[in-house]
Amino acid sequence: MAKELDALIVGAGFSGLYMLICLRDRLGLEARVVEMGAGVGGTWYWNRYPGARCDSESHSYCYGFSRELLQEWEWTERYPEQAEILRYLNHVADRFDLRRSISFDTKVVGAEYDEAANKWVVRTQGGEVYRCTYLITAVGCLSSANVPNIPGLEGFGGEWYHTGLWPHGGVDFAGKRVGQIGTGSTGIQAVPVIAEQAAHLTVFQRTANYSIPARNAKLTAEFKQHVKTHAEEIRALMHSTPNGHPFAINPRRVFDVDAAERERLFEDGWRRGGLQFRAAFGDVLVDQKANDEAAGFIKRKIREVVADPATAELLADIDHPFAAKRPPIDSAYFEAFNRDNVALVDVRRDPVAEITPGGLKLESGRSFELDIIVFATGFDAMTGPLLRMDIRGRDGLALGDVWAAGPTTYLGLQVAGFPNLFTMTGPGSPSVLCNMPVAIEQHAEWISDCIVHMRANGLRTVETTEAAAEEWGRQVNEAANATLLPKATHSWYLGANVPGKPRVFMPYAGGMARYRAHCAQVAAEGYPGFVLA
Ligand SMILES: Cc1cc2nc3c(=O)[nH]c(=O)nc-3n(C[C@H](O)[C@H](O)[C@H](O)COP(=O)(O)OP(=O)(O)OC[C@H]3O[C@@H](n4cnc5c(N)ncnc54)[C@H](O)[C@@H]3O)c2cc1C
Ligand SMILES: NC(=O)c1ccc[n+]([C@@H]2O[C@H](COP(=O)([O-])OP(=O)(O)OC[C@H]3O[C@@H](n4cnc5c(N)ncnc54)[C@H](OP(=O)(O)O)[C@@H]3O)[C@@H](O)[C@H]2O)c1
Repeated sequence: MAKELDALIVGAGFSGLYMLICLRDRLGLEARVVEMGAGVGGTWYWNRYPGARCDSESHSYCYGFSRELLQEWEWTERYPEQAEILRYLNHVADRFDLRRSISFDTKVVGAEYDEAANKWVVRTQGGEVYRCTYLITAVGCLSSANVPNIPGLEGFGGEWYHTGLWPHGGVDFAGKRVGQIGTGSTGIQAVPVIAEQAAHLTVFQRTANYSIPARNAKLTAEFKQHVKTHAEEIRALMHSTPNGHPFAINPRRVFDVDAAERERLFEDGWRRGGLQFRAAFGDVLVDQKANDEAAGFIKRKIREVVADPATAELLADIDHPFAAKRPPIDSAYFEAFNRDNVALVDVRRDPVAEITPGGLKLESGRSFELDIIVFATGFDAMTGPLLRMDIRGRDGLALGDVWAAGPTTYLGLQVAGFPNLFTMTGPGSPSVLCNMPVAIEQHAEWISDCIVHMRANGLRTVETTEAAAEEWGRQVNEAANATLLPKATHSWYLGANVPGKPRVFMPYAGGMARYRAHCAQVAAEGYPGFVLA
C-alpha cells in the first residue's frame, strides 16, 4: 500500500533536515524524509576518512534559522572535524524531534509523476511506495562516490576504500603499505593523517593542486562569546558576501598595490589561513594576471616547504588558475612529503594502467606493492545523485534524457516537465561555490514560501518553463565565463572528472547575494518563469 504524503524529502543531510522543519513544523504538512544511510548527517555521515573536517569556519558552517540553536551550540575548533559536525546534525535532529519523520536505510530508486492525480509516485529499494504532492530532492551535490573504472580492481588482494563511503569502524593503517589516488580537498586532508599511521604512503597525483594552510586551532572562550554576541551581524555579513562566508572580500585589485605590498598582503592571508587567503584581493578569480600573482606566491611557498626539489617541482607544477578548482585548505599537507615514508608519483605523465592482485601498475610498467588503496577520487557531482534516482516527469519524460547534454534548470530549483519537483542545491544554483548551509537555508525557505503561496491561492502545480530554464542556463554560463573558473578544464564543476559526463559548468557563479536577491524578486513578482496552475 502506498503511503500518502503532502511532501517527500529525499536525504537527511543539512538540506533534508531543515526542509523537514520548514514543511512539517512551520507549514503543518504531512512531510517525511527518506534517507539511504542509517543516520542523519549526509556528507558527515558518509565521509569518515582520516583528516575529514570542514573548510568553512565552524561558526558559519551551521544553521542560522534558530536563534536558540545558535546560542546553545558551541564549536570547539576553527574547522570542526567530521565527528563534531555529525554530532551537531544529530543534535539538530533530536532538538527538533525530527527522527520520527525520517525513514533510514531507505533508498529512492524511482520517482514518477502521475499527472492525472497530480502526485509523485516514489519507489524505494525495499519496495515501499510513497505518493506525494511535492517531491523535494535533498540528495546533496557530493554524495555519489566516483570510483574510477581501473581494470583489475575486483582482483585486488588487499583492501580498498573510497573516502566518501568510509567504514564506520575506521581503517587500521598500522604497518600497511598504502596507495592513495587523488589530491583534491579530500586527498589533501587525508595524506598527513594516513602518513602518520601507515608504514608507507604513496600518493598518486594526476593534477597538482594549490592548498592554503588551514591554521586550525581550538576556539578561545572569547571567540565563542563573540560569535554568540554578534550572531546577527555575522549572519548579515554571510548573506552579503558572494560566497556565504563570514568575511568580506577586499575589493582592491592585485595591481592596485606595488610588489612589496602585494607580497605583504598575500603573506598576511597565508598567515591567517584557510579560505580567507582569497579575500585579500577582489580580482583573483576574474583576472588571469592577478591570479598568476596569487598562484606564483603559493608555488613559492610549496617550494619553500618541500625539501626534495623533484617532489617540490611536481607538487608546484599546477596547470590551472588558483581557485578555479575548489581550493583545498590543509593541515601540513606539503610538509608530509618531507617524511621518509611518503612518496609522490606523477600519474598525469604515467597514468595508472591497472590494479594488480598485489598493488598497482602504471602504463610505463612501473609497479607498486600495496596493502590498502584509498580512492580520494571525488564524486559524480551535482547531477549524479539526481540521475541515479530515475526521475520521470510528465508523459514518462526521463530526467536523464532531458539532461543528456547537461543539466538545465531554472534557478537550480526546478526542471521543465517535472511539476512540483524541487531540487535543493541543484545544478544552476550557487550551492558548491558557497558556504553551503547558507545556500541550503535559502533554498529550503524559498521552496517553503512557494508552497505557502500555492496553498494560499488554491494552486496545485508549479513548474518552470523550458524558456526560463534556457535563459537561466545562458546566465549560468555567462556568470562562469566572467570568471577564470572554466579554465580548469578537468574540474568536477564541469563534470570533467567522470568519463562521458557532458562538460557543462554546473554551479551558478554569479554570487550567493545576487542569486538570493534574484530568487526573492521572482517570488515577489508572482513567480515569472514558473507556471502555477
Ligand atoms: C568531505 C567533504 C567536506 C565538505 N566540506 C564543506 C565545507 O567545509 N563547507 C561547505 O560549505 N561545504 C562542504 N562540503 C559540501 C557538503 O556536501 C555540504 O556542505 C552539505 O553537507 C550538503 O548537505 P546536503 O544535505 O545538501 O547533502 P548531503 O549532506 O550530501 O546529504 C544528502 C543525503 O541524501 C542521501 N541520498 C542521496 N541519494 C539518495 C537516494 N536515492 N535515496 C535516499 N537517500 C539518498 C544521502 O545518503 C545523503 O545522506 C563538503 C563535502 C564533502 C564531501
Ligand atoms: N573540508 C572541505 O571543505 C572538503 C573536503 C573534502 C571535499 N570537499 C568538497 O568535495 C569536493 C570534492 O573533493 P574530493 O577531493 O573528494 O574530489 P575531487 O576534488 O574531485 O578530487 C579528486 C582527485 O582524484 C583524482 N582522480 C580522479 N580520478 C582519477 C583517476 N582515474 N586517476 C588518477 N587520479 C584521479 C583527481 O584528479 P584530477 O584533478 O586530475 O581529476 C583529483 O585529484 C571538493 O571540491 C569540495 O567541494 C570539501
